[in-house]
Amino acid sequence: MLKLGINVDHVATLREARYRGRGSGEPDPVEAALLCEADGAHGITAHLREDRRHIQDRDIFQLRERIGTRLNLEMANHPEIRAIALRVRPETVCLVPEQRQEVTTEGGLDVAGNERELSEVCQELRTHQIGVSLFINPDSAQISAAARTGADFVELHTGPFAEAFHEESQGREELQRLVRAARQAYELGLSVNAGHGLNYENFEALYAVPHLVEVNIGHSIISRALLVGMGRAVREMLEFTDGYGSGDRVE
Ligand code: PXP
Repeated sequence: MLKLGINVDHVATLREARYRGRGSGEPDPVEAALLCEADGAHGITAHLREDRRHIQDRDIFQLRERIGTRLNLEMANHPEIRAIALRVRPETVCLVPEQRQEVTTEGGLDVAGNERELSEVCQELRTHQIGVSLFINPDSAQISAAARTGADFVELHTGPFAEAFHEESQGREELQRLVRAARQAYELGLSVNAGHGLNYENFEALYAVPHLVEVNIGHSIISRALLVGMGRAVREMLEFTDGYGSGDRVE
């Protein structure tokens, strides 16, 4: 069965837009994660960025404490964040590249160019019983290098596929790249995840990609939750506004 990991970063982005630096505020990504789990999500993903633009350290520790499924900590290979990972002990770490200017993770890791360093990180995390996933473009050289690092998983970057989805031949080509990459990774003994840009429109095309273990999805699910939950949120506030002038106001 293909597993669904839900990325709750976007919930924290909304919270930080109003409550940055306050230590709490709504919406709470941990509460969101618990709701995801209650409805069947198989895991929770959160990206602790070096600049802490959305998820904060306290979110990660609370997720670790409160969720009942699996925690996948997305992070750059940075010493401060690595030290946090060793304290939190998520089930898996997904190593991603991180640049300060990007809105979200833009490209895959250059594993081929940083093989030795990444092999050492994989080894360190794995000796602490943390599984390691490398977020890479569906590129043959990157997959071969990922297998040599000793990582458990690769997460294939589906962003280019999602971007090209509406352009027929390019969309097909990007899908084929994912198919070839998944086959290669599987044959090299890697478990295969996928993520970035997956949504309710493009997901079924991914059925063509073999060997997938888990997909990580954030933006489309959080966006849809906002809209499908809007009616209830409005009705609950209307109960208050309708009560105005009803005579039972506290003076
Ligand atoms: N996987 C990785 C490695 C990511 O960096 C992201 C984005 O934070 C996702 C999955 C989820 O992408 P999206 O929010 O587009 O669904």
